[in-house]
Amino acid sequence: MTGTRDSLRSYLEGRENLGEPEMFLPSGGRRETLEKMQRAGLGAPDTTGLGTDAERLARSGTREEILAIQDMEGLRAVAEACTRCGLHSTRTKVVFSDGAADASVLCVGEAPGANEDRTGLPFVGRAGKLLDRLLLSAGFPRADVFICNVLKCRPPGNRNPLPDEIEACSPFMLRQLELVSPTVIVAFGTFAAQTLLGCRDSLRHLRGRTHLYQGYPLVVTYHPAALLRNPGWTRPTWRDLQLVRRIVDGEQGQPTARMGAVEAAPESGMDDDAGAQDQLILGGRDG
Ligand code: URA
Repeated sequence: MTGTRDSLRSYLEGRENLGEPEMFLPSGGRRETLEKMQRAGLGAPDTTGLGTDAERLARSGTREEILAIQDMEGLRAVAEACTRCGLHSTRTKVVFSDGAADASVLCVGEAPGANEDRTGLPFVGRAGKLLDRLLLSAGFPRADVFICNVLKCRPPGNRNPLPDEIEACSPFMLRQLELVSPTVIVAFGTFAAQTLLGCRDSLRHLRGRTHLYQGYPLVVTYHPAALLRNPGWTRPTWRDLQLVRRIVDGEQGQPTARMGAVEAAPESGMDDDAGAQDQLILGGRDG
């Protein structure tokens, strides 16, 4: 029996290595087949497209290997088994992403909190509910955007992420970005903005302009958790999201690469609408 399994496995691996089209067993798709193989004890399958198994990459994959993973499913498999930094020992669940993998808008936060660690989904606590309303106020239902964090695992007690954790985890975010290939990135909060842009500038300095990150327009705004503490920042956040709206609608000129940041967001003529939006966004806030 083991001999048959080994032969089947090496036959399937051989096909893949030769670049043959994927071959699915009659009853299901690739994922189902791989899961069946795993359940049947056929060993850790290659879900990465690199001819190596997800568990090896999760343990000791290099930045380059993670950046070479071929699809989102493979990337998720590696992230969900990841032990490349110390946070794996305290996490409950890896928080990979939520939303549409073909989204026009990719939202990046800092790191999971307690609710996210428990559920495995980003931005599901009070800040997440506010994020949903903010996005909707700019015409982006949550299900239509892609949401992730710089860190995929919760730092204990929500402490600030450490440099080695950022170093270990950021290739996942970078590959998510490449795979989604959005029209625009939105960095929520100082940490996400500074990490993506590689700077130490304040939010005050970074907001209100379109930056460039890896060739993608990037807009910086307040973190929804900060808005819960400072409701007065809701209107500026709404304005930032209107800039995102214009970029998606093709109404905002392309940013240039000068210092990675460039365009003033027009702010005039928006405040009347913004007053109504404050009510809409904050009115439904829980807690
Ligand atoms: N804060 C974040 O930055 N990300 C989450 O997923 C939740 C809270």
